[in-house]
Amino acid sequence: MAFNYISAAEAASLIKHGYNIGLSGFTPAGTAKAVTAELAKIAEAEHAKGNPFQVGIFTGASTGESCDGVLACAKAIRYRAPYTTNVNFRKAVNNGEIAYNDIQLSQMAQELRYGFMGKVDIAIIEACEVTPDGKIYLTAAGGIAPTVCRMADKIIIELNAAHSKAAMGLHDVYEVLDPPYRREIPIYKPSDRIGTPYIQVDPKKIVGVVETNWPDEARSFSAADPLTDKIGQNVADFLVADMKRGIIPSTFLPLQSGVGNIANAVLSALGHDKTIPPFEMYTEVIQNSVIGLIREGHIKFGSACSLTVTNDCLQEIYNDMNFFRDKLVLRPSEISNSPEVIRRLGVISINTAIEADLYGNVNSTHIGGTKMMNGIGGSGDFTRNAYISIFTCPSVAKEGKISAIVPMVSHHDHTEHDVNIIVTEQGVADLRGKSPKERAQAIIENCAHPDYKNLLWDYLRLTDGKSQTPHAIRAALCMHAELAKSGDMRNTDWAQYQ
Ligand code: COA
Repeated sequence: MAFNYISAAEAASLIKHGYNIGLSGFTPAGTAKAVTAELAKIAEAEHAKGNPFQVGIFTGASTGESCDGVLACAKAIRYRAPYTTNVNFRKAVNNGEIAYNDIQLSQMAQELRYGFMGKVDIAIIEACEVTPDGKIYLTAAGGIAPTVCRMADKIIIELNAAHSKAAMGLHDVYEVLDPPYRREIPIYKPSDRIGTPYIQVDPKKIVGVVETNWPDEARSFSAADPLTDKIGQNVADFLVADMKRGIIPSTFLPLQSGVGNIANAVLSALGHDKTIPPFEMYTEVIQNSVIGLIREGHIKFGSACSLTVTNDCLQEIYNDMNFFRDKLVLRPSEISNSPEVIRRLGVISINTAIEADLYGNVNSTHIGGTKMMNGIGGSGDFTRNAYISIFTCPSVAKEGKISAIVPMVSHHDHTEHDVNIIVTEQGVADLRGKSPKERAQAIIENCAHPDYKNLLWDYLRLTDGKSQTPHAIRAALCMHAELAKSGDMRNTDWAQYQ
């Protein structure tokens, strides 16, 4: 079938007020750019005329500035799910302007299929190739593309020349059936391929192909610093010790790690530890450091949902596909983050906390209990099902005015039942096999900043000290209240609760 080649503006004009749009991509990698940028202009023009214009956005995870960023600024988003990292989107959400549904990334595709979020009117899919018989070859991410392509009435393709056709073959596209027909996902090792390298659609659904040349808008990370290096080294030392005492098999286990400096530091420390054999990743995001470690032979294989790498790194991969073809696979997010597969493979998860409490509960998403930061992302998918679940964070934020270790978290994402290890630059609290009261001792002793240790011990003295999970309920959020009042948790005074 011959496709209708149209401009991004023409494609955007097919999207009407009230539509729900399903997007390819996962992080800024592989997401739509040109059509959403034009859509923001349409929204602004309609608003200037006094007309309403808002859409619902369904994605794999975060997108880039030319999607979440411009659409949030244009007040064009009514509803969005799931994860996002965009600053302007965050402001709009915390101003009450957008209905944001922050769900676990593995659940996004299935919740769309189950009908929890309404119809997908149109899908915008970034591709490096589309064939006349309806085979869509994705670019740098899997996301929810197979599901939105199947569910949408219409599909727009952004055929992006910034992604080489060498990306064809990177993907393993597989969509599960829904209950009561669902079967096991037959992945038994990170490198198993179970699907096709393309999404097959009815070509008649493709209403337009937009040719672009628009690089991914991956975020750059600040340079490594001694604090993140120390956290990374603490994680690596802990894992080496667990391997030496036989808790982690000598062949090692697949790793999941988040994005950013701490993840880089962990991977670099593990990759360069002589006692750890070359290992595999079963993760959602592959960043530059993983590619370097694959090249050096420290990482044998990377299974992920996206290549969230800098553009020069991405081009290097595309230029050297003969080397990378049997070392990388990109999957849809419900497979890369599948609880079933994560538990089967024994993945070790490493994610970042905003704050953790004395009993091991973790907040990954909210500042001060009410303001959205980014979202839960895949951290819940991996933590709940990991062989060992690890959370890292600096022990303090904002020049020491905020302790990351608090009596009670102000928002709850990962419960004490799922969190095994907490690591700060101060040290490692191993919570495995411990009762809540034992955990509190380990966390204060090993993870809290020296400025806060006495404050936290004093908090425990306010409790009855005997209950299963001792709390002084009236005082439990007092450090947060003090931060709101004086701007510094160190000013907390327990006297009024004694
Ligand atoms: N209270 C208030 N503010 C806090 C805080 C706390 N307890 N802890 C950190 N902050 C602030 C920091 O000061 C910083 O503020 P700034 O932007 O004004 O400088 C901001 O929050 C981000 O902190 P930072 O230390 O830079 O964190 P990060 O970039 O490593 O991100 C998360 C941390 C938790 C927000 C991020 O990892 C995330 O979104 N996680 C959830 C998703 C996830 O885990 N996905 C799976 C892996 S991809």
